[in-house]
Amino acid sequence: MSLFRKKNVEHMLRASAEGTGLKKALGAVDLMFLGIGAIIGTGIFVLAGTGAVQAGPALTIAFLVAAVACGFAALAYAEFASTIPVAGSIYTYSYATLGELAAWIIGWDLMLEYGLATSAVSVGWSGYLQSLLRGFGISLPTLLSAAPGALPGAHTLFNLPAFLVMMAITTLLSIGVRESTRINNIMVAIKVTVVLLVIVVGVFHVKPDNWHPFMPNGWRGVFGAAAVMFFAFIGFDSVSSAAEEVRDPKRDLPIGIIASLGVCTVLYVAVAAVVTGIVPSPQFAHVANPVSFALQEAGESWVAGLIDLGAVLGMLTVILVMSYGQTRIIYAMSRDGLLPTPLSHIHPRFATPFLTTWLVGIFFGLIGALVPLDVLAELINIGTLAAFSMVSIAVLILRKTHPDLPRAFRCPGVPVVPILAVASCLFLMVNLQQITWIAFIIWVGLGIVIYFVYSRHHSRLAHAPHDHHG
Ligand code: ALA
Repeated sequence: MSLFRKKNVEHMLRASAEGTGLKKALGAVDLMFLGIGAIIGTGIFVLAGTGAVQAGPALTIAFLVAAVACGFAALAYAEFASTIPVAGSIYTYSYATLGELAAWIIGWDLMLEYGLATSAVSVGWSGYLQSLLRGFGISLPTLLSAAPGALPGAHTLFNLPAFLVMMAITTLLSIGVRESTRINNIMVAIKVTVVLLVIVVGVFHVKPDNWHPFMPNGWRGVFGAAAVMFFAFIGFDSVSSAAEEVRDPKRDLPIGIIASLGVCTVLYVAVAAVVTGIVPSPQFAHVANPVSFALQEAGESWVAGLIDLGAVLGMLTVILVMSYGQTRIIYAMSRDGLLPTPLSHIHPRFATPFLTTWLVGIFFGLIGALVPLDVLAELINIGTLAAFSMVSIAVLILRKTHPDLPRAFRCPGVPVVPILAVASCLFLMVNLQQITWIAFIIWVGLGIVIYFVYSRHHSRLAHAPHDHHG
């Protein structure tokens, strides 16, 4: 039965109240910014072009479909986040509800999500940076401009800008959350301003004729696009990973998660409507900067330049928040003994998991430098959708096993809303490619092997029988 050993929720709450060495520096507005910082990025700036080709102007509907799936999951997230505010996001929540093996699988899954997301966004960032530099007449050697095989017909070897940006972000994170958060807030403000600029300037160039046919590839195209555009919403969940560093988590976490998701949905649908109204959707094929491209086509080249700049700055914050979430999950898993102990060592001066931050930064920096974007995006989506399904199931279990636990935020419509969350996540998963499924199954299989060979025997719960139940 040790596979189902669980953390004791009351013990976790007490430990969290006593503090763990991480600084408690964040408030509700910081969290909303952290959320928006994680959400708006490569999804809207780069993948929206692919989505427009697939769904046509119904890209707006694709965004709404993805947003609805996230919305259900966000409500479940918010309940968990406000009930058990400890580092490690849904990994920790599932440890208290579904047991150790499920928690391990979810944590392993999240490592894939956050890690590959940082790699993917660094690739998107590199593309916009190179487009910005080209505006000034500067070009990188082709060899160092992209991953091997990323550009058909070109001999590319290593995406140098993608790797360098990961190293810069890793340096920031490793010296402390306060500094990183302040920089994040400034960049988010810039990014939201740029997105609003796209909408406000672009709307005057919309030709409603471009919205016909609205669904050139039917619902199939829309749902396929929704499964990919889901990527654009990933990140709101990383807010909950910051739980132990929040001053008033019960109040601030739900506000942070839901507000950031809502703001981004409105912005995405508006951007999708505007860009597909400016340019006929098929023209977005193979365009690496679809949003600024649309404004260029409209003759607004100064706005297009600003968009390039805003996208470069905006994607920085995505990498920052994703890396942050990931180091905190590894920190939590290591603290529980499921991963080697040095990974949860806190730096005495910077109060951050210094070693973990650097290991993760270098590893996923190399992946971003060596693997093309399209391969990464679907894999990230399947991992995240699986994790969202599990958290929605966990919210139902926690209501049964711990009905009286104080909850600052209660998910409305239980059990209907969590069930709809599972159903909509599974629906999007079904719309992903078969190759993605195969890779995902291999990754989960590898995780299960590591659990039985290492984690199960080193688990802190295995050595502290009074700290758990079930
Ligand atoms: N949602 C994030 C992005 O679109 C991952 O870049």
